[in-house]
Amino acid sequence: MANPIKGLVLAGGTGTRLRPITHTSAKQLVPLANKPILFYGLESLAKAGVKDVAMIVGDTREEVMTAVGDGSKFGLNVTYIHQEKPLGLAHCVQMAQRVLGDSDFIMYLGDNFIRDGVEEFVESFANRSDGTNAQILLAKVPDPQRFGVATLDAVGDVVSLVEKPTVPESDLALVGVYLFDSAIHEAVHSISPSARGELEITDAIQWLITNGKKVRSHIVDGYWKDLGEPEALLEGNRLVLESIERNISGDVDDLSTLDGRVVLEPGASVVRSIIRGPAIIGQNTVIKDSFIGPFTSVAAGCVIESSEVEHSIILNGSRITNIHRLEGSIIGKSAVVAKTERRPLATRLVVGDHSRIDLV
Ligand code: TTP
Repeated sequence: MANPIKGLVLAGGTGTRLRPITHTSAKQLVPLANKPILFYGLESLAKAGVKDVAMIVGDTREEVMTAVGDGSKFGLNVTYIHQEKPLGLAHCVQMAQRVLGDSDFIMYLGDNFIRDGVEEFVESFANRSDGTNAQILLAKVPDPQRFGVATLDAVGDVVSLVEKPTVPESDLALVGVYLFDSAIHEAVHSISPSARGELEITDAIQWLITNGKKVRSHIVDGYWKDLGEPEALLEGNRLVLESIERNISGDVDDLSTLDGRVVLEPGASVVRSIIRGPAIIGQNTVIKDSFIGPFTSVAAGCVIESSEVEHSIILNGSRITNIHRLEGSIIGKSAVVAKTERRPLATRLVVGDHSRIDLV
């Protein structure tokens, strides 16, 4: 191919909906089955034949740059672009123009997870012969008013796009992956900020349509999720765990049972405990006198003692002690969740800004 498709990956933003996790960490680096969300996206770009990637980074750029490096571990060549303020997805395209040049490119939102990858989508754009200028990915959703919504004509060309409509004209939401040719550069320079002060990619695509460009759509059959909210993260984690293979590298004592698809990473140890898969236990984590239920990911360096944990994500270095049952929870890095016998018996909390705690 004379002009291979480049990548534009968006890993800036504020991650308001995932606070407090995003107070200290990039949301794109929150792990699903102990691997950052962003890595699944980068792997799928590499698999689709993309080599050169421009990556938009914001306040959390150091963490993202440390995790991704020069991209070579994914078979990619990553150039970073610092966006000082999250001024919108179309602003990201403006910023990346000098790196993307006139190439066709795939824009990928770093917090989206598409189980079946983007190979087919990229291939159909690369092999087009009908002069299509942009191809968007759509998914049927039950709550279209939360998304950019597309209306299509009989052959699947996009007739209009509206960002978060009050009365949606269809149930087809924009998924966070787009393919563009160089016509998008004029579009992103021709629009004005929306009411929320952002340069919206939906407005830029609508500009393409209004100006006679061809915008095609492709509907995702497999699972897709925007992982911007806690419930979506837990669901994404569950989905990835559903496809893991059993792999035991750590130590398990004779009094413990590991049922089904459990991954025990090197250096992890399980003492007098039951782990019921699918579940993953990170490097050097200790599980003692506990039950770890299905759909749980425990990252590296954690200690879980005399507790029951299910359908949860526990990040690096956290400690959970004497908790009868923790479910549907996301515990940040180096957090301590413990039940104490210390008098007076009371709930004592040191909770970060924007945390959410449901007590029973
Ligand atoms: P969003 O989830 O729409 O925005 P956000 O990250 O600010 O999150 P929240 O709404 O919870 O505050 O962004 C989608 C992806 O694009 C995400 O990976 C962040 C990235 N992004 C940028 O890199 N720059 C931007 O200007 C915007 C708006 C988003």
